[in-house]
Order: sequence, then structure tokens, then C-alpha cells
Amino acid sequence: MRKNTFALFPGVALAGLLAATSAQALSIVGSGHDLNTLPSAITVAGNDGQVCIFCHIPHNARTDGAGAAVPLWWRQAPASTAWTMYDSPTMDAVKPGSPQGVSLACLSCHDGATAFDALVFSGGITVTDAGGNPANMFDVPAGFILAVGPNLSNDHPISITYGVDPELKTTSEIETAGLRLYGAGTDQVECATCHDVHDDVNGGFLRLSNIGSALCLTCHVK
Ligand code: HEC
Ligand code: HEC
Ligand code: HEC
Ligand code: HEC
Repeated sequence: MRKNTFALFPGVALAGLLAATSAQALSIVGSGHDLNTLPSAITVAGNDGQVCIFCHIPHNARTDGAGAAVPLWWRQAPASTAWTMYDSPTMDAVKPGSPQGVSLACLSCHDGATAFDALVFSGGITVTDAGGNPANMFDVPAGFILAVGPNLSNDHPISITYGVDPELKTTSEIETAGLRLYGAGTDQVECATCHDVHDDVNGGFLRLSNIGSALCLTCHVK
């Protein structure tokens, strides 16, 4: 008789199955990208508990640099300017001279040199370390790992055109899978291609789980 119950209510069984398999997006609030959650040695002041303000502003946002790539961007350009990019004789894509677009947005904290409170106009917002100095990535635990730049030569290539290497999945395949390409031609691999700054549901702010190297295999045919 149990079997019949399921047959009578197929919708209920299906809803249960979907709930068990689909990962629900998480909020940036309370995540590592909510600067209000930084360790207590770091003092965040003047922001009224706001979360988005360290990256976005609703009015008078910048439209140059990272602001051309990220909606309503409100951070200063990265303090670092001497970048070392990934280089390899087997890479087909043209090697860029410096990070572009959305990647510059990430590197305005992840270069390790730029202060968290380096906003276009701070309006009294400060993020300071125990000594009262502007805090940056080296003030958080494991900051030496989290500061991926300015030496990007030992990191997965960014600011490269997707699809030049024929050994990759098609652009539509990877976009359908949930990855994003950027730039004027919507064909550039940037930091935010693999990471979603707002959602840590997969850990490491990854757009897709990398269990079994699933993220890597979404693009690479290997
Ligand atoms: C640590 C920096 C950072 C914080 C904090 C942040 N964002 Fe973003 N946001 C970005 C970056 C970088 C992008 C562009 C990359 C992308 O496409 O996801 C973006 C893109 C967006 C977009 C457009 C693309 C999309 O995903 O729809 C919206 C809308 C947005 N953010 C809203 C918010 C809101 C609302 C908050 C606060 C609750 C917030 N963001 C907090 C960095 C941030
Ligand atoms: C406003 C500064 C800021 C910006 C901009 C920013 N981050 Fe972060 N990010 C942080 C901080 C601070 C941490 C460390 C949080 C912690 O240790 O709790 C972090 C942590 C991370 C982590 C490590 C998460 C983990 O669990 O190990 C990743 C991945 C990451 N950020 C990627 C990005 C990417 C990609 C972008 C751009 C799309 C970006 N971040 C933009 C401040 C920033
Ligand atoms: C091709 C995909 C891809 C690109 C592009 C990419 N990342 Fe990552 N990143 C990953 C993966 C996978 C991890 C490991 C996450 C984990 O295991 O928690 C990671 C980890 C990280 C971490 C955590 C510390 C560490 O080294 O493990 C930070 C911070 C980070 N990425 C920032 C960035 C920034 C900033 C950029 C652009 C300059 C970038 N990522 C570009 C895939 C990528
Ligand atoms: C968004 C799609 C995408 C994802 C996801 C991705 N890659 Fe890549 N990867 C590329 C592209 C594009 C290149 C440049 C290939 C070329 O032009 O030869 C590249 C280059 C590389 C290279 C250097 C190749 C060379 O010839 O120097 C390695 C190694 C690599 N990826 C490994 C990984 C690993 C490991 C992961 C998972 C952590 C990963 N990739 C995730 C798109 C991706």
C-alpha cells in the first residue's frame, strides 16, 4: 500500500527530491565577504553595519577601471600596479599584461596591499587593525594565502579569452553549467568566472562545487 501512496502524490515525492538535491544560494551577510564578521582585532566603524557599502554604492558610482565591469562599484583601484601575470609556452590564449575588469575589483582587496576601507569617498567609514592603522588582507587569518596578487604567475590564468584553446568545452556549455564570462565580448575568464563573491554555498565562494574536480572539468576536457 505504501507504493500506492507515492503514486497518488507524485508531486510531493518530486518536491522532496528537489529539496534534497538542489543547493540553496547563501547570503553574503555573515559570510567572509561581510566585513562586519572580520576578527575582533579589526575595528569596522562608520558603516552602520552595512555590508554592500565596501564594494557598491547606489549613486555616483565610478564608471572607470573596475567600475566599467562591476555594477555600481565603489572601491579605489588596487594599490598594486606591478603585476606578474601567468605565463606558459603551452597556453593558446593571448597572455595579458595586467589584470582587467572584474579581476581588478577582487584585487582591490586580494592584492594584499589595498586597505579594506579604500573607498572612492569613505564618508568616515574605517577598517583598522589593532594598532589603529588601515587594515588589509594581511590582518586576517591566512592573509598570506588570501592575498593572491600582485604576483599572479602561480595562479590560474585570468583576463584571458575563453575558447581559443580547442581542448575546452564550448562557451554555451560552461554558461549553462553556471559559470560566467566577462568583458565587452562576454568571453573573458576573470576571478568571478569561477567565484561568486556573494555566495559561499559551495565553500571558497566557488560558483560550482569542485568535488571530484567538477569545476575544472566544466571547462577542461581532460
Ligand atoms: C566584497 C565586494 C562585494 C560586496 C561586499 C558586495 N558585492 Fe555585489 N558584486 C561584487 C562584484 C565583484 C560583482 C561583479 C561580479 C559578478 O558578476 O558577480 C558584483 C555584482 C553585483 C550585482 C550584479 C551582478 C549579479 O550578480 O546580479 C549585484 C546586483 C550586486 N553585486 C549586489 C550586491 C548587494 C546587494 C550587496 C550587499 C548585500 C553586494 N552586492 C555586496 C562585489 C561585492
Ligand atoms: C572589500 C574587500 C574584498 C573584495 C573586494 C573581495 N574580497 Fe574576497 N575576501 C575578503 C576578505 C576580508 C576575505 C577573508 C574572509 C575571512 O577570512 O573570513 C576574503 C576571502 C575570499 C576567499 C576565500 C574564501 C575561503 O573560504 O577560503 C575567496 C575565494 C575570495 N575572497 C574571492 C574573492 C573574489 C573572486 C573577489 C572578486 C570577485 C573578491 N574576493 C573580492 C575581502 C574581499
Ligand atoms: C579557474 C577558476 C578560478 C579562477 C579564474 C580563480 N580562482 Fe580563486 N580559487 C579557485 C579554486 C578551485 C579555489 C580553491 C577553493 C577551495 O578549495 O576552497 C580557489 C581559491 C581561492 C582563494 C582562497 C585561497 C587559496 O589560495 O586557496 C582566494 C582568495 C581566491 N581563490 C581568489 C581568487 C582571485 C582574486 C582570483 C582572480 C585573480 C581567482 N581566485 C581566480 C578557482 C579559481
Ligand atoms: C572557466 C573555465 C575554466 C575553469 C573552470 C578552469 N579553467 Fe583552467 N584554463 C581555462 C582556460 C581558458 C585556460 C587557457 C587555456 C589556453 O588558452 O591554452 C586555462 C588554463 C589552465 C592551465 C594552464 C595551461 C597551460 O597551457 O599553461 C591549467 C594547468 C589549468 N587551466 C588547470 C585548471 C584547473 C586545475 C582547474 C580547476 C581548479 C581549472 N583549470 C579550471 C579555463 C578554465
